[in-house]
Amino acid sequence: MPWTPTQVPGVQEQPPVTPVEKSYMSQPTFDVELIRTQWLTDSTLELTFQTDGLSAFEAGQFVSFFLPLEKENGDNTKGKTIRRSYSVASSPEELKAKGVFQIAVALVPNGQASACFSAAQPGSVFPVTGPFGQLTLPVPEQLQLVAPDRLVLVGTGTGMAPYRSMLPQLQQLRQQGQKIHLLMGVRQRCDLFYVDDFHSLTNEEQPVPLDCCLSREEITDPAAGEHSGYVQDRLAELSLLPGRDLVYLCGNPYMVEDCFTWLVGKGFEKRSVRKEKYVLSR
Ligand SMILES: Cc1cc2nc3c(=O)[nH]c(=O)nc-3n(C[C@H](O)[C@H](O)[C@H](O)COP(=O)(O)OP(=O)(O)OC[C@H]3O[C@@H](n4cnc5c(N)ncnc54)[C@H](O)[C@@H]3O)c2cc1C
Ligand SMILES: NC(=O)c1ccc[n+]([C@@H]2O[C@H](COP(=O)([O-])OP(=O)(O)OC[C@H]3O[C@@H](n4cnc5c(N)ncnc54)[C@H](OP(=O)(O)O)[C@@H]3O)[C@@H](O)[C@H]2O)c1
Repeated sequence: MPWTPTQVPGVQEQPPVTPVEKSYMSQPTFDVELIRTQWLTDSTLELTFQTDGLSAFEAGQFVSFFLPLEKENGDNTKGKTIRRSYSVASSPEELKAKGVFQIAVALVPNGQASACFSAAQPGSVFPVTGPFGQLTLPVPEQLQLVAPDRLVLVGTGTGMAPYRSMLPQLQQLRQQGQKIHLLMGVRQRCDLFYVDDFHSLTNEEQPVPLDCCLSREEITDPAAGEHSGYVQDRLAELSLLPGRDLVYLCGNPYMVEDCFTWLVGKGFEKRSVRKEKYVLSR
């Protein structure tokens, strides 16, 4: 979209819907091969896939998997598939260099995709379509013209995956002097992951705070960025400025809606808040 110096990135229009997103259902499907799994926490599994079918994506986007449905009573689900979406947790640069991408899956009890991914072994092949989504960063050229005061990236659980995908872009932005603030909401300390990756953004001259909001555990180390409660509690302490700051929200749909409503109530224009809700499939 055209960009003028009078526009503030925090209040820019959402990018126009691309032909790719318009033809959501008619996107080509390609195969991906699982090459590695790694536990990030007790209930979060990172899966790494090799593919030559996904040529590019923008950091922050997601892909949709077609997964074989687990057998039910009477085996009446034979041959059926379910469709589930996952944010890409690795960078576009990694796809370009190695032909791989990663997703981080929070395994839910009795979840159909959860069961499928838990059982998957290296060598398993899945049909995937995408990329989709608009939770993407403004390009550096746009930010060089008029930068937002702060870029505030908020996620719960695997809702942090898009920000991990953005790390090379965020590093570049930080080097240009852009202030960045990350908020991660989890139940307990042991549910945190990708923390070292986010800490790699920071240096003494230009710290990039990572606030870890623990909803079900007493905090022991406030100096390390621990906070009690929900991400909303911490967000309210950040003295955010409507029209100046640009906020991203991703993950738990109730959190996203709650933060969005609060920010709009604070005077944020809707287009200054970008969001991706991990809505459940049923
Ligand atoms: C755009 C988009 C991006 C997404 N990205 C990610 C991602 O990067 N990582 C990720 O883990 N998920 C992501 N999700 C959610 C994901 O698509 C699935 O919904 C999720 O993995 C559960 O699927 P399932 O088949 O295992 O559970 P289902 O079989 O659909 O559900 C089983 C049961 O678990 C409940 N349930 C499902 N999800 C949750 C949950 N999170 N918490 C509590 N209960 C739940 C359901 O209500 C149901 O009762 C995303 C969703 C969208 C729309
Ligand atoms: N140890 C475990 O057994 C364990 C650990 C982690 C996840 N899980 C399971 O994994 C699945 C997905 O979990 P997840 O951690 O990725 O995502 P999640 O369920 O969305 O929770 C992530 C964080 O978001 C918080 N949250 C929930 N509702 C919110 C709201 N309205 N506003 C703001 N924050 C809110 C949660 O707090 P609260 O839940 O405290 O409200 C938690 O701190 C769930 O089925 C979960 O039960 C299990």
